[in-house]
Amino acid sequence: MLLTGTMRINEQGHLEIGGCDTVALAQEFGTPLYVMDEELIRRNCRLYRDTLSRLYPHSQVAYAGKAFLTTAMCRLLAEEGLALDVVSGGEIFTALQADFSAAKMIYHGNNKTPAEIKEALAAGVGRFVVDSISELELLAELAAAGGRQADIYFRIKPGIEAHTHHYIQTGQLDSKFGLGLADGQALAAVKMALQLESISLKGLHCHIGSQIFDLKPFQLAAQVMMDFIAQIKAETGYLIQELDLGGGVGIRYLHTDTPGTVSDFLELITTTVKTKAAAHNLPLPKLLVEPGRSIVGEAGTTLYTVGAIKDIPGIRRYAAVDGGMMDNLRTALYGAKYEALVANRALAPAEETVSIAGKACESGDMLIWDIQLPKLARGDLLAVLSTGAYHYSMSSNYNRYPRPPVVFVYRGQADLVVARESYADLVRNDLIPARMQQAAHKLAE
Ligand code: LLP
Repeated sequence: MLLTGTMRINEQGHLEIGGCDTVALAQEFGTPLYVMDEELIRRNCRLYRDTLSRLYPHSQVAYAGKAFLTTAMCRLLAEEGLALDVVSGGEIFTALQADFSAAKMIYHGNNKTPAEIKEALAAGVGRFVVDSISELELLAELAAAGGRQADIYFRIKPGIEAHTHHYIQTGQLDSKFGLGLADGQALAAVKMALQLESISLKGLHCHIGSQIFDLKPFQLAAQVMMDFIAQIKAETGYLIQELDLGGGVGIRYLHTDTPGTVSDFLELITTTVKTKAAAHNLPLPKLLVEPGRSIVGEAGTTLYTVGAIKDIPGIRRYAAVDGGMMDNLRTALYGAKYEALVANRALAPAEETVSIAGKACESGDMLIWDIQLPKLARGDLLAVLSTGAYHYSMSSNYNRYPRPPVVFVYRGQADLVVARESYADLVRNDLIPARMQQAAHKLAE
């Protein structure tokens, strides 16, 4: 069983996280419920931060907000001294609401709108990661118009194919993200940026994919990027001073998963950058990494209440829970696999093979296929593990289900950091055109 962070089974045989009994959490906050182990999130932040600064002092860890972002999470990041990778006006707004320093934001995205760029310039966002020549032109124009200079990185496609799910490969040449090295786009963009007065080229960025277990592709990417820094120096005389190598290591969804460790990952990339810098006779660039999943993924648990149970004789037993693809899209989208336990009797032995279905109106709405669990009954509390990254952040209101709340549990205390959406929230932005103002009950008469 995959017990992570502060999880333990208490004297009542209940799953406990952060010193809080999950059965009590479900009673207090209802289900579905996202529970985040704050201690583990903080430990992961410190592991990245302390290991990287020990191996490579001129460095920065920027948490990738797309994995999970709320105002409380921004506060936690500021307390832990991390910078923030943001990818939308909404993420920037969230961070600003929590008084997170704009200067410590690195702004990604392959199609920032003019409005988003203007807002980011006005807020004083620290780095813009420019994804295309078209975006460089837009940013230069908007920065000039506002009398500002934008500090940028270029997102480069190092051409490394990491072995992970197809949809989350982003480093290969045929990708919507970044500027190609092989086709000369990256160098052309660099030369162009150097001519633009409202642009200050600070660094380069790459991101080769997510949930990558093998560390070798990260090394290859670091090598390619350092070679490109040397090439830029040779061809233009310009010295790139910052290098952002993108996301972090993979995590365990199943107890059999064996991702590379944070220490091995950081050891490998820092050594590679140092070796390449020496070989090219370059000063060491400032080094950044942007882990998301490995900071919050294993720290998240989703609690559900078991409802309808259906046996299809000789085929399968389904147990449906009170959530589904609206709060966890990853099984339907990526075929992701999860472990779960019955939180109200966590020591009960596995007795049957069951598939956990969601309650959305879609056959593909499954959370877990064929898992070994104790015999489930209506009312059981099911805890699905490793659901801290890309779950709440990818949740939706499909079928008009209100999004679940999020609680941070920490040393016996549970704090709501996102309230449960209400039905009223669902219709908050709905409008009825004037020509339909006749009350519905009158129409029915
Ligand atoms: N930096 C950039 C530019 C990224 O695009 C990403 C993730 C990260 C950092 C963080 O990578 P991580 O440390 O989390 O591996 N929704 C998918 C994952 C999409 C990842 C997108 N980019 C999933 O649920 O698996």
